[in-house]
Amino acid sequence: MAKHLAYHLEELKIALDEGDSRRVLPQLRDGDSTVLDVGCGIGQSLIALGTEGRRCIGIDVDEAAIVHGRQTFGDRLQLEVAGAERIPLDAGTVDLAMCRVSLPYTDVPRALAEMRRVLRPGGRIWLTLHDRRTVLGYLGEAWRARSVARLAHVLYILGNGWLFELTGRVLPYLNGRYESWQSPGAVSRRLARLGFEVEVRVEGRHTVVEGRLPQA
Ligand SMILES: C[S@@+](CC[C@H](N)C(=O)[O-])C[C@H]1O[C@@H](n2cnc3c(N)ncnc32)[C@H](O)[C@@H]1O
Repeated sequence: MAKHLAYHLEELKIALDEGDSRRVLPQLRDGDSTVLDVGCGIGQSLIALGTEGRRCIGIDVDEAAIVHGRQTFGDRLQLEVAGAERIPLDAGTVDLAMCRVSLPYTDVPRALAEMRRVLRPGGRIWLTLHDRRTVLGYLGEAWRARSVARLAHVLYILGNGWLFELTGRVLPYLNGRYESWQSPGAVSRRLARLGFEVEVRVEGRHTVVEGRLPQA
């Protein structure tokens, strides 16, 4: 089984187990009729949230994950191969846009602007962040593995997080993919500029940022 698929199946198990301390998901509200998960994997979070009576859309750049998700949950989820930076939905069509453990792998400002675009007035955005300490942990691992390639990649992630902190922008790595850490302050400032009222909380090991748009 592909490594990523095993990860998504394990995350599905965690998401379905309400007693698991690693489970972190948004609270749905009455009127959340369309939910979008950006970087959805096989659709594990959407399935755990429950799909009855709402339209659940997931996008991910990992084609194998989307194919697996469609085979398993195709009757309940609408899954598309697409990037956070260009969400294939019309503006103002989503009530809740969530991005669980996926934002760090995107062009963060573009992904946030895209999620803002597709939300309806009064809509919510729900994100988990990667903090700097986690990335410093990767640095130790790369150092102990004596891997120059891993060290270079971790230094890129650290630098990209600082770039986001200072300028609100991120850069792709040599392979064209993105990775960064984000402080709650930098993400909150970005969301406030996009018109959200923002709340930050720590839930278990996750830093959660939630933003709400004003009603029209
Ligand atoms: C760590 S996994 C998280 C999966 C799922 N959200 C969860 O919480 O279990 C990160 C996911 O983000 C996806 N991803 C990476 N870059 C992306 C991008 N630019 N746009 C959309 N998805 C992306 C990956 O393919 C992967 O499925």
